[in-house]
Amino acid sequence: MPSRKPLLAAATRPYRATGFINHQWARGKLGHDPIFAALLEHQVFPDNASVIDLGCGRGLLAAWLLAAERLFQDGQWSGAAPPQGLRFRGVELMAREADCGNRALQPLYGERVRLQGGDMRDADLSDANVIAMLDVLHYIPYADQEALLDKIRAALGSGGVFITRVGDAGSGWRFAISQWVDMGIMSIQGHRLSRLWCRPLAEWIKALETRGFTVQAVPMSEGTPFANVMLVARIP
Ligand SMILES: C[S@@+](CC[C@H](N)C(=O)[O-])C[C@H]1O[C@@H](n2cnc3c(N)ncnc32)[C@H](O)[C@@H]1O
Repeated sequence: MPSRKPLLAAATRPYRATGFINHQWARGKLGHDPIFAALLEHQVFPDNASVIDLGCGRGLLAAWLLAAERLFQDGQWSGAAPPQGLRFRGVELMAREADCGNRALQPLYGERVRLQGGDMRDADLSDANVIAMLDVLHYIPYADQEALLDKIRAALGSGGVFITRVGDAGSGWRFAISQWVDMGIMSIQGHRLSRLWCRPLAEWIKALETRGFTVQAVPMSEGTPFANVMLVARIP
């Protein structure tokens, strides 16, 4: 991976056209959240995958990985190659955020990025090789989580990958901080949340393993006060 700076610039530049706040949001999130670099380091996306990003927000995951591909193709990359040929479909409850992502990314990447407003519980998951859900699962009740995990498992064939990040409800004060910040940001963004549906890490992993996934858990809070873990769940 090259130094973070050129990748950050390439991934966030498209958001300039969508306004100051969106651009700053993209810079803040992609610049400080460790998961985006980790997704490249751990090489979790196979080439040419059809990716569905549930709770995609402004499409930052697509922005990051497609910018990495461009830098690689332009010869501005050192180290392991980023994934090539990814296509993204995203579903986001806040339609204006999905619109923002489309306005930023479609002029550059065309139909390779298609984000739409909607509830991820109703999403069409057909044709996906990779399903991503970063920091979203705990917004829906436990029974809905179970149903959605069943749906994700059914949609992914052999070699399919489900990538998620969850909070570890067993991690004491760090988890309390995560929840407090989470509820604050979501309320600023216009969500009306009365509670979150969290679980200790072992329970998240069990929910995936009992569905036949092989799970790799990677701590994902470096440089933050949070209690987050990235789970890369593969169908063998
Ligand atoms: C913490 S943000 C993460 C956004 C994005 N995954 C990222 O990493 O940049 C959680 C997102 O999930 C969305 N969300 C929450 N519940 C949802 C649902 N039922 N269906 C679709 N999106 C949902 C929120 O609107 C919000 O944009």
